[in-house]
Amino acid sequence: MNDRPLLTVIIASTRPVRVGDVISRWIVERARARDDFRVELVDLRDVNLPLLDEPEQAATRRYLHAHTIAWSTTIDEADAFIFVTPEYNHSFNAALKNALDFLYHEWRNKPVGLVAYGGVSSGVRSLQALKPVLLALGLRFAGEVPISTRLTPVVDGTFTPSEANELAAQAMLQELATLDGLFRSLREATN
Ligand SMILES: Cc1cc2nc3c(=O)[nH]c(=O)nc-3n(C[C@H](O)[C@H](O)[C@H](O)COP(=O)(O)O)c2cc1C
Repeated sequence: MNDRPLLTVIIASTRPVRVGDVISRWIVERARARDDFRVELVDLRDVNLPLLDEPEQAATRRYLHAHTIAWSTTIDEADAFIFVTPEYNHSFNAALKNALDFLYHEWRNKPVGLVAYGGVSSGVRSLQALKPVLLALGLRFAGEVPISTRLTPVVDGTFTPSEANELAAQAMLQELATLDGLFRSLREATN
């Protein structure tokens, strides 16, 4: 059904060898198993944005570069997001911050779920660093899935989630659907 809202899952890690793509495919699979959303996977490595190079602030929506216009279209089309982010040096990764900074209105009043992963901390510090950024952009937080790559490592390209991962994922997906319904009229009224 094409009239379902669009959930865009963003792979934040851009490293040539990474686990972010494997973990992203897991959450995409879980999202597709439900019927709330159409689900699309967007890889920041393919989006390939340079470091922010727009002369004007995104809030003006006056974009100079083709890569910004393309990124704006991708994010405009989405109704909800899941960011799948690693923890790098106690924060989320720079490619995700850069991609967020490129735009403003395109993010506003859209629900976002966070899947974060890391070694010692299960990505919790990347979650804590990301939340104030969501607030600044008017994204609506819909829950989180912290993943320990020590307890549940990616082995040979396979991620085997814990029961806690699965429960958190279902709660987050449910909340994404609820918040999408709640914020849709606000988005339509302000766009
Ligand atoms: C630059 C860098 C910094 C990292 N810092 C942390 C950290 O602060 N805490 C943590 O738990 N893991 C840290 N790690 C480990 C990563 O969470 C782990 O390597 C993970 O697989 C990275 O995600 P990716 O493979 O999808 O890029 C770091 C890894 C890198 C490359």
